[in-house]
Amino acid sequence: MRQALIAGNWKMHGDSQQIHQLLGELKPAVADAEADIAVIPPAVYIPLCDELLKGSNVVFGAQNVSEQREQGAFTGELAASMLKDCGCTYVLVGHSERRALYGENDALVAGKVAAALAAELKPILCVGESRAQREANETLEVVGQQVDVVLSTLADGHDQLTIAYEPVWAIGTGLTASPEQAQEVHAFIRSKLAAHSQALAEKVRILYGGSVKAANAKELFSQPDIDGGLVGGASLDAAEFAAICHSIG
Ligand code: PGA
Repeated sequence: MRQALIAGNWKMHGDSQQIHQLLGELKPAVADAEADIAVIPPAVYIPLCDELLKGSNVVFGAQNVSEQREQGAFTGELAASMLKDCGCTYVLVGHSERRALYGENDALVAGKVAAALAAELKPILCVGESRAQREANETLEVVGQQVDVVLSTLADGHDQLTIAYEPVWAIGTGLTASPEQAQEVHAFIRSKLAAHSQALAEKVRILYGGSVKAANAKELFSQPDIDGGLVGGASLDAAEFAAICHSIG
């Protein structure tokens, strides 16, 4: 059985005071949750999360990482080794907002996944189709390509990878893929992993993301190939996020 993971992607939201309040409420509310739980704050708040989450069952990660493996003249970038040094467990890679707004392509995303793994950070590779691609019946082709580019660069044994299927049309829109729509893509991603290695397919967690909330989490998480969620907006509300964390099992 894969251990479920619920990760809260705060995106570019929050300040110190809000984070004190959010984590103050969240920690006791999820102390007995069965799932692994992570929050993904803006990078400048990583040290604050480290301080506030000590002794709790909630870990933290970063929203982005450089593909450069060595320190150097890369203004504005954060190396995977630095994120690891600051206590991060996870890092999001290739979120659709980074692909769409900051021009990240599959090759760059693959470089970031490899850099994260090399620093023993756990990458959460985000993949997903746009509305137009779904309407043109291209979902599996698009997602398959996004997954294949990364898998083709991975050496064996990189089962620390997590994949998040996030249909772009469902992110921040209130629209959610139906459990059946999501399961179809998750099973397809699992088959891609199996083509690489059966052990990878069994071990790698595949999260669903896109307007996950307490009201739809249980049904989504009950699908056989959905191993948890990547939660955006709803992760900024402690009670709502805690309810999602308790929707596993
Ligand atoms: P959402 O965002 O839950 O607000 O739709 C999900 C994400 O972008 O990771």
